[in-house]
Amino acid sequence: MMHPDRFRDKVMVVTGAAQGIGRGVALAAAAEDARLVLADRSPLVHEVAQETGAQPVVVEADLETWAGAAMLAARALEACGRIDVLVNNVGGTIWAKPYQAYEPDQIEAEIRRSLFPTLWCCRAVLPAMIAAQAGAIVNVSSVATRGIYRIPYSAAKGGINALTASLAMEHAQDGIRVNAVATGGTEAPPRKVPRNPEPPSAQEQAWYQGIVDQTKATSLMHRYGTIAEQVAAILFLASNEASYITGTVLPVGGGDQG
Ligand SMILES: NC(=O)c1ccc[n+]([C@@H]2O[C@H](COP(=O)([O-])OP(=O)(O)OC[C@H]3O[C@@H](n4cnc5c(N)ncnc54)[C@H](O)[C@@H]3O)[C@@H](O)[C@H]2O)c1
Repeated sequence: MMHPDRFRDKVMVVTGAAQGIGRGVALAAAAEDARLVLADRSPLVHEVAQETGAQPVVVEADLETWAGAAMLAARALEACGRIDVLVNNVGGTIWAKPYQAYEPDQIEAEIRRSLFPTLWCCRAVLPAMIAAQAGAIVNVSSVATRGIYRIPYSAAKGGINALTASLAMEHAQDGIRVNAVATGGTEAPPRKVPRNPEPPSAQEQAWYQGIVDQTKATSLMHRYGTIAEQVAAILFLASNEASYITGTVLPVGGGDQG
């Protein structure tokens, strides 16, 4: 069944909304009349809020911390009274290199960036969703669960897939659906907020190119996707059109299954 008013008056929290895929989700959901709560560590999220033409709640928070995630959930509930949808989008590999070249602190930083925000935010919104006996969570994973030169990130996204399946199992009885998209390589404008403030060396650029080449090679379509192609899948899983889908990781990578 099609739902033309998929998000009218639905309270949707989008993390990492200042740019890229998160910004794309925010703009598209605003066009469908969602009541948005936009979260990011970067103050650029205020500009995205303006771009939506709506008046989203904006929360600046470091979602790698429990305090940041708890504050986000509290602010959303205070302003909107409930949370219908949570899109866990914060993440992204910080370094591109073969595993033996990672320092231990870099491995920890990758897990903090690409696993913890989703763990924390799910934990923070669950009590309200359980009380409401309703909710939809969409986690943004990656086809990098099978990919080179970003092993800590691959492991973090494997963790996202595991928590998606298991949280769905635990809370189907509460009317809560939990799904993920396994995002493939996605074209985006140059990042205003860099994932790594240090400019990459020539060697690191070559390793990054290795990721791009492998991603295109393992996609059956041999191309990068667009932000709009990711947004469409995320919003589908977030909507009642996906009311009989939970615990699923949907690959959106031109046939790359991740
Ligand atoms: N772009 C791709 O090709 C691609 C491919 C596969 C998966 N993904 C996944 O899609 C998601 C979005 O990717 P993107 O390329 O649009 O990301 P991006 O790096 O362009 O933007 C990420 C946003 O998250 C914010 N952020 C980072 N750390 C944060 C923190 N600790 N607390 C709060 N906000 C924080 C940043 O400020 C930024 O606005 C990520 O989970 C990424 O792993 C992206």
